Amino acid sequence: MNARPQVWSVTNQKGGVGKTTTAVTLAGLHALDGKRCLIVDLDPHASASEYFGLSGTTLFDALQNPAAPIVPLTTSIPGLTLLPACSELAALGNKSGAAAGGATGLALKRLVDRLTDIDIVIVDGPPTLGVLMINVIVAADRMIVPTLTDPLALRGVASLDQTLKQIERSLGHRAPWTIVATQVDRRTRSAHEGYSALEQQWGTALWDEYIPMDTQLREASARGQVIEQFAPDSRAARAYRHLYRHLTTQTAPGNRP
Ligand SMILES: Nc1ncnc2c1ncn2[C@@H]1O[C@H](COP(=O)(O)OP(=O)(O)OP(=O)(O)O)[C@@H](O)[C@H]1O
Ligand SMILES: [Mg+2]
Repeated sequence: MNARPQVWSVTNQKGGVGKTTTAVTLAGLHALDGKRCLIVDLDPHASASEYFGLSGTTLFDALQNPAAPIVPLTTSIPGLTLLPACSELAALGNKSGAAAGGATGLALKRLVDRLTDIDIVIVDGPPTLGVLMINVIVAADRMIVPTLTDPLALRGVASLDQTLKQIERSLGHRAPWTIVATQVDRRTRSAHEGYSALEQQWGTALWDEYIPMDTQLREASARGQVIEQFAPDSRAARAYRHLYRHLTTQTAPGNRP
């Protein structure tokens, strides 16, 4: 009998903060570590799906219809499969907020309950607050929140925290989160200041390292490879390996600053 897979949701309602890069890279590390890992692409822009050159409506169909078969697509990495996003997902995401607490908000969690032969699910979330993001949060056993370190991005984490608190009120619990500073250029004073501000506000919820700015990540994505394959000696690959080790070995981090 297969146990329910762990779900790591990569989420932030701000765009361009490194969600897809983080989701794909962590998923690749799980698979290269010998686990059966499934990426669920819940962003209608389908960036994670495009990363691996995959498309289709299997995820949308399975979210809509609990009897529809779940058929993950294979990627170029052994052990790594993906349920692709499609533009129709946006329609699901546009449904009124009333649906949030009902069946629609639980659709992803129910889909995960039906999965077999998967050890870990990594969800790549959308950059907008709505029913899709609620699904991402409700299904999570752990949340990973990539953020930039500029003042606007810091406000984004605070507003995500508000969203998480609202959902916690109706669920009665909140999955632990790890905030990850990404695209950090440590030569700049603003990056240091932003990182310190995150540390001050969120304490141990902030990962005590960071993902550096590294153009190799863009090169890797252009080739449909994860950084661990494309440039394992790069600074970004090293940083993501540290993050992977941190997330797989730590006990639940604190939810509160
Ligand atoms: N550490 C990094 N260093 C340099 N470039 C990066 C880094 N992380 C991500 N990028 C690049 O920044 C861009 C945005 O990253 P990504 O797509 O992962 O963000 P996102 O949060 O998923 O965006 P969206 O909200 O649009 O889905 C991409 O071109 C990606 O290759
Ligand atoms: Mg993305």
